Amino acid sequence: MSEQQGQQPNIPANGALGNGHRNGSNGNREQRSSGPNGPAGAFSPRFAQIVGWGYHVPEKVITNFDLEQIVDTQDEWIRSRTGIEERHVAAAPSETSASLGILAGRAALEMADVNPNKVDLIICATSSPEHIFPSTASIIQDGLGASNAGAFDLSAACSGFVYALSMARGHILAGDAEYVLVIGAETLSRIVDWTDRATCVLFGDGAGAVLVAASDVPGGITATVLGSDGSGADLLTVPAGGSAMPASLETVSSGGHYIKMDGTAVFRFATRVMAEATRQVLGKAGLGVDEVDLVIPHQANVRIIQNSVLKQLKIPEEKVFINLQKYGNTSTASIPIALCEAIAAGRIKPGDNLVFVGFGAGLTWAACAIKWSVPIAKPEATWWRNTQRQATYQAAAARSMWKRAIRRVYSQFPAESRWGGRKEEGEAG
Ligand code: UT7
Repeated sequence: MSEQQGQQPNIPANGALGNGHRNGSNGNREQRSSGPNGPAGAFSPRFAQIVGWGYHVPEKVITNFDLEQIVDTQDEWIRSRTGIEERHVAAAPSETSASLGILAGRAALEMADVNPNKVDLIICATSSPEHIFPSTASIIQDGLGASNAGAFDLSAACSGFVYALSMARGHILAGDAEYVLVIGAETLSRIVDWTDRATCVLFGDGAGAVLVAASDVPGGITATVLGSDGSGADLLTVPAGGSAMPASLETVSSGGHYIKMDGTAVFRFATRVMAEATRQVLGKAGLGVDEVDLVIPHQANVRIIQNSVLKQLKIPEEKVFINLQKYGNTSTASIPIALCEAIAAGRIKPGDNLVFVGFGAGLTWAACAIKWSVPIAKPEATWWRNTQRQATYQAAAARSMWKRAIRRVYSQFPAESRWGGRKEEGEAG
């Protein structure tokens, strides 16, 4: 179920997208002279604009009624306490955080009509990474064929997507990147205890992505607020499997590898920080609450959104986007999925002031203010363009397989015999 909502940014492909873009991407970094840190006399303001967006959720849907068959719960309880009606779940083993992230990333790149090899950096925010390492972002980089991109995971739980946007903005404003692909990808169903009714009814799987580009069009991501209070680390955690409590028979038999949460404490924290972070980011952006056109909050619980953004900030309902009834809490993916749906629903137009605000384990919170400056226009999906894209994806897969095969062949030989006895690049000693 891929979705590429909304549309070609209509920022002229080579003109308005920042001077760095005109110099090309990667390989041309040394030529980038503009930007806040550029040499005297070459100053040209840079902005970080979201120019592509897309999401992907697994096919399988689990409704509240389905959950009634699994744990002691009721549709009425889940609906009235959380607002959630159903969630998508990665049922097939091949559906992983990376595979969902790849499909969301492709959709965002297609929306912006940008080739994967133009991407300088991939940041994957995730609470359910494929492994402790390697990063899910590196697996996504390989799957996308983004051969010129650096890649790393960002761990800030459900606040992670907004944290990652802040990192993307920083890289772009510093002149270090022209295109940053920011992905929130989750398969929380794999780390949820399906016998714990207090948590299993809340979460869902999915991935959302945005492409952030350097631009000389004013606006884009204008301000960010990041926060953390590690004294609440134990309120929402997967206790085992890390270095503090390595996986063992005991951790597995006691369910230490599943999500544990003090729901009431997290609820209290969330209602406070969602309002505070929104206020702070608006202050940084020089905006009043009444100037906000749309808030896209982390989609955890409709009551958290009501008690914070709606009641405390007195932002009217029509200015807040909510879609958690369909997806549950998809952690880092919730804001980008909601963004895609808000665009598709015609809730965002050029000139709008948006706020993304989230909270999560850590404890963490994050908000960003965005001046949406990109026209919403559908990219033309021609047969030729689609064929080119498919060829790009197949070439990426072939390249990856080829590299693996070469490594397998080399691994058959003792290290000394490789390269005529010379050490391999990067080999210690
Ligand atoms: O991205 C961050 C992720 N975390 C969150 O956003 C969680 C924030 N917290 C919450 O959303 C809410 O605290 C919950 C939805 C988790 C719980 O709602 P609540 O209104 O705070 O309920 P509660 O924990 O106070 O529980 C009320 C009752 C309890 O029964 P008793 O003790 O009153 O008899 C629970 O055992 O509801 C019971 N309960 C359930 N009943 C039916 C808890 N879970 C369920 C369930 N179905 N799934």
